[in-house]
Amino acid sequence: MATTATREDLLRYGQFDDEQREYVIDRPDTPLPWINYLGTDAYFGIVSNTGGGYSFYRDARLRRLTRYRYNNAPLDLGGRYVYVRDDATGDYWSPSWQPTPERELDDYECRHGLSYTKIASSRGGIRAETLYFAPLNETLEVWRVRVSNDRTENAELSLFSSVEFCLWDAQDDATNYQRNFNTGQVEVVDGVIYHKTEYRERRDHFAYFATSATDDLKGFDTQRETFLGPYRGWDRPIVVETGAARDEIAHGWQPIGSHHVKVSLAPGETREVIFVLGYAENPKDDKFDPPGSQTINKTRVRPVIEKWLDPAQVQRGFDDLRAYWDQLLGNLTVRTPDGDTNRMVNVWNAYQCMATFNLSRSTSFYESGIGRGMGFRDSNQDLLGFVHMIPQRARERILDIAATQKEDGGAYHQYQPLTKRGNNDIGDGFNDDPLWLILGVAAYLKETGDHTFLDERVPFDNRPGSEVTLYEHLQRSLKYTLDRLGPHGLPMIGRADWNDCLNLNCFSDTPGEPFQTTENASGGVAESVFIAGLFVLAAKELAVIAGLRGNEGEEAVYRAAAEKMSGTITEHGWDGAWFRRAYDFYGNVIGSGENDEGQIFIEPQGICVLGGVGLDDGLAGKALDSVAERLATPHGIVLQQPAYSSYRIELGEISSYPPGYKENGGIFCHTNPWIMIAETMVGNGDRAYDYYRRINPSAREEISDVHRTEPYVYAQMIAGKDAPTHGEAKNSWLTGTAAWNFVAITQWILGIRPDFAGLRIDPVLPGDWPGFAATRAFRGATYEITVRGTGRVTHLLVDGERIDGTLVPPAPPGAVVRVEAIRE
Ligand code: GLC
Ligand code: GLC
Repeated sequence: MATTATREDLLRYGQFDDEQREYVIDRPDTPLPWINYLGTDAYFGIVSNTGGGYSFYRDARLRRLTRYRYNNAPLDLGGRYVYVRDDATGDYWSPSWQPTPERELDDYECRHGLSYTKIASSRGGIRAETLYFAPLNETLEVWRVRVSNDRTENAELSLFSSVEFCLWDAQDDATNYQRNFNTGQVEVVDGVIYHKTEYRERRDHFAYFATSATDDLKGFDTQRETFLGPYRGWDRPIVVETGAARDEIAHGWQPIGSHHVKVSLAPGETREVIFVLGYAENPKDDKFDPPGSQTINKTRVRPVIEKWLDPAQVQRGFDDLRAYWDQLLGNLTVRTPDGDTNRMVNVWNAYQCMATFNLSRSTSFYESGIGRGMGFRDSNQDLLGFVHMIPQRARERILDIAATQKEDGGAYHQYQPLTKRGNNDIGDGFNDDPLWLILGVAAYLKETGDHTFLDERVPFDNRPGSEVTLYEHLQRSLKYTLDRLGPHGLPMIGRADWNDCLNLNCFSDTPGEPFQTTENASGGVAESVFIAGLFVLAAKELAVIAGLRGNEGEEAVYRAAAEKMSGTITEHGWDGAWFRRAYDFYGNVIGSGENDEGQIFIEPQGICVLGGVGLDDGLAGKALDSVAERLATPHGIVLQQPAYSSYRIELGEISSYPPGYKENGGIFCHTNPWIMIAETMVGNGDRAYDYYRRINPSAREEISDVHRTEPYVYAQMIAGKDAPTHGEAKNSWLTGTAAWNFVAITQWILGIRPDFAGLRIDPVLPGDWPGFAATRAFRGATYEITVRGTGRVTHLLVDGERIDGTLVPPAPPGAVVRVEAIRE
């Protein structure tokens, strides 16, 4: 079996099944856990390629269903495990490989699909395939296990399911043992294991774990130590080893759920067993049955459980889930000469964008689910990647975000998804934050044309009575920057700008002190060229929006402000061959040839050009050449060079990382698409596409042993050239990288770009591409697009009618429009 083959000659661990839209992993020992997500709305889980992971309802910290220990050894242990036991011999194993890796499988395959995962394997002629998914509009997940007997004689088997319950608040669960070892409670009725810790007091919710095999149910377990046996782990539970459940009811300690199901299979026979793990709530005044007792009232949940234990319903639920993704992904599909581009755009990059919509930065193998809330700037940028799939939900998201803005235009850096309130612990003062709201709203308007949105009334800091129009929120965002200009007329940086780790007013010398929240020195000097570039971009967008609202006066004011800032950048932010990064607390330049380290940074080269700075006078082209010379590597473009070799108190967290990691010269993938877009703006399709491919995870599949994270999603960071592990990715899934790469490839390289007045088709392609075709839903109509010729698009044929330029006017909803874009 693959697991015993030598590592050296294996560079990949699976392959894409483009037809099924699955990534197929063919050996379990991937370099890192390669995960997927279950759930689409309120109930979510992560699932690894070996069945690891956990589930939660809405909030990964406060409503955690199952327990998980990060940073474990091995890294990924604990999850949705099923054990198979051959009752004739006593042999047992887990078909997902973990947690019994010593028991070799004869074959193994994990298929990560869109919101589902299928793990199949066999051992000794017994084959097991488990499908995990969370059906739409339910608060539960289904495990459909199919066991087959490929032997020539009968097989007498036992199946043992297992989950370890979390006592709801994952943070408290992991720390407060003096209390938590006493509170655990369960009920077992009709083969359903109910986890009801704290239900007796203030919780109105409980979890349940059920099986379809009630006729063959031999027993159950609910206490971890009884199931595993003293001093034993999940690799050899005593109950599985002896083949007999203990039927014990947990009191305190660590409640788990396990069913013991007997399965007798004739040769060639397959048996399906369904397990359902779910979350339920009862009304406060109807929690108990009979009233006054301590027994869960199950009248509401019972029909749900019954429904999902029915195999036909499970199949329907799975088909519905597939249809849901067909619909979402059908909004944009492309057929280009490059397979890696096609599969990322059509499937995986869009899928990752939806993961960032659902989970922000909360839950992955790098985000524990108990840490960060929703980032103000992160959420606005994530929107760029999913607004075309779910405009209505993007609209709601924007209103939530805007409602946390402060009266002075400033923004809480994060807000909590459950309360939707700004997070006081982290506070504000990240001076780029408010500007991203303008870009988020602009993206929504371009996608939908729904300008009444700007008249929605939105409060400040969620304070009733403080409502003003959304448009005014955007105005305050610009004002926030203009109220905070430094000595050179550039925006003051505050705690940090996009680069959370460039902390120019922080001066931290206390170990462990968080750089982002510690008391800042009041300087009023440190300035950011990045915010200046972002301001130009945002002010131009708001100018167009103002014009469309008929506010010509305001339009002119914003254009003038953009012009002025652009001039300031050219005067004080240009270093001769690239844009400078910032001025520090003392007014010293950062990101300049004058510096010994940190001479050139990627962010201002990207964002200034995106704002149009340097496009008319050749500075943009020069800056991008400098990026190519000094920052580009085969694994992507590093954040800055030379990396800081020592801690510099006046720069903050950026210099806390060893050279080549994270913001200190790592390939921070979020920023690379800015350069790709900038390259298209100067007309350089070859370079834009080359950069795109360097970090495209699918294009890096063949170096999976170097890259190490999942080849189907972007990671936040790839180690830079100063790092000993150059090329190694970390922090996959929940990153702004997803949205920005999606924007770079679809809107700028392929050039299918929503604009206020319609859909623009203006690709800037690599020279050797003959063109491509695409289908794009836009404002209710469908556009069948073909791009042909070479060079830039000069005119369009829209249903055969010639239109000069690149803008397709919006067609009525329901229309199917044929667009040929002619390059000459
Ligand atoms: C992380 C943060 C993001 C920040 C970036 C650079 O990705 O979530 O807000 O812009 O790091 O520091
Ligand atoms: C750390 C990370 C940075 C991230 C920030 C979030 O500083 O290095 O990437 O943006 O935490 O708070």
